[in-house]
Amino acid sequence: MAEAIKETVSNLIGKVTGAGEPAPREPSAEEFQQLQKKYTDAGQGHVFAFVEELSTVEKSILFHQLNNFDPARINDLANTALHPPKTEQTTVTVEPLPEAATASIIDSDPADVQKWYDLGLKEVSANKVAVVLMAGGQGTRLGSSAPKGCFDIGLLSQKSLFQLQAERIIRLQELAKKAHGVEKPIIPWYVMTSGPTRKPTEDFFRKHSYFGLEEKNVFIFEQGVLPCISNDGKIMLEAKGKVAVAPDGNGGIYQGLVTSGAREDMRTRGIQHIHIFGVDNCLVKVADPVLIGFSASKDVDIATKVVRKRNATESVGLIIQKNGKPDVVEYSEIDKETAEAKDPKQPDVLKFRAANIVNHYYSFRFLESIENWVHKLPHHVARKKIACVNPENGEAVKPEKPNGIKLEQFIFDVFPMTPLDKFASLEVRREDEFSPLKNARGTGEDDPDTSRADILKQGQRWVEAAGAVVITDGEAFGVEVSPLISYAGENLEFLSGREIKAPAILEKEE
Ligand code: UTP
Repeated sequence: MAEAIKETVSNLIGKVTGAGEPAPREPSAEEFQQLQKKYTDAGQGHVFAFVEELSTVEKSILFHQLNNFDPARINDLANTALHPPKTEQTTVTVEPLPEAATASIIDSDPADVQKWYDLGLKEVSANKVAVVLMAGGQGTRLGSSAPKGCFDIGLLSQKSLFQLQAERIIRLQELAKKAHGVEKPIIPWYVMTSGPTRKPTEDFFRKHSYFGLEEKNVFIFEQGVLPCISNDGKIMLEAKGKVAVAPDGNGGIYQGLVTSGAREDMRTRGIQHIHIFGVDNCLVKVADPVLIGFSASKDVDIATKVVRKRNATESVGLIIQKNGKPDVVEYSEIDKETAEAKDPKQPDVLKFRAANIVNHYYSFRFLESIENWVHKLPHHVARKKIACVNPENGEAVKPEKPNGIKLEQFIFDVFPMTPLDKFASLEVRREDEFSPLKNARGTGEDDPDTSRADILKQGQRWVEAAGAVVITDGEAFGVEVSPLISYAGENLEFLSGREIKAPAILEKEE
């Protein structure tokens, strides 16, 4: 069974030779014909429409790209995604997760939070904690040509999102070393990229000397891609000799962990706890000991951080239980009455308030079971404007409205397959832990300016709590505290009684 799934997985993963790579092996005429037949039989023969115009190398590249996909399977995926089987209408019951599965940093006993932190840090010091970063998205809304993690959000230090995360890892390793007298705790960092983001990500890490981390503890791998499909079900061509492909969604992480060998590397290192999150949250507490300790003490397989939904109309996905199973419900899927319902125990807050921020804990034990369920994860349809060539006449098409679909898996589709007693959620403070970078500068929402402001405000809160006075003037505010000095506000006592003129940057302990 596992072998069969592995094969399907590798069949689905497409890789295209990039600039500077050696030319691929030239297929024999027979191999080429067989592949052409396979695509023609599946009704996708048009992908060979321009083959006579291609050079030998281009032809080989196209062959290898197409050979990585099974066209009949692609047809199935597209068909099922576009025409999902009708399920019999049964009553859907939506409830918040049971109390026993949830906790909140906001109203927990500080002693409990400290207990989770201590336990999590102990696991870090024992080299049992790993971080997986999802950085395979194309960041279309942000509109930068470089991967999102390379983005400079305008901090005084000009640090990128990747650098902020790397420095938090370094600081946390330092904290674990101090707390437990371990020589050199290591938090390995697995960075999931995709066809479009892999090379620029690798180059960026190399250029910045892995931001002070050891190269051997940074594992950059690639998720799968799937062909883009036109509105009439045809595989799209990006160029005459190249299929248009897109990353297979953040749910591609599960296959990616297996096929890349990342999971095997975790096993070799004795990893037991994994923190997985998206690249675009500049406030992410990488390998957060509180999350690790909370999840380990509950002995769950998956735990998810949530923030409190701002109001009944905020458009966020919610962590809930649906018909007794953990799940995510999109804002558009719940009615007004449900969205506005108040928590009977705390009438001033919403009953359904656990907003999903794609920030999850997994036990290694759970990742061991990927082969048992990965084939059950559905593909979702994302309608997009996809630049392509017209297979009829070879003309380039720059669409003004969505002309095709990308097929994506979602990381959370595995939640309903997890027993309720192996699932938990931890509510954290939004201002401390969540500020996503989604949109281009000037949008005013989840853009580089809001990211930068949230980091500066957090730093200001930290130094003020440590007894410093921040002098703000007009629009000037905030302190950028290097993660190398402070992971979460600790270690700033040396600032007590000092005056700091905003905006300020704190790079060293002085
Ligand atoms: P988003 O869905 O916000 O996508 O990804 P995005 O690529 O960042 O931005 P848009 O929608 O194109 O504007 C949420 C997280 O999931 C990762 C992203 O890198 C981001 O960290 N992701 C998304 C992947 O790793 N792979 C994917 O195929 C899709």
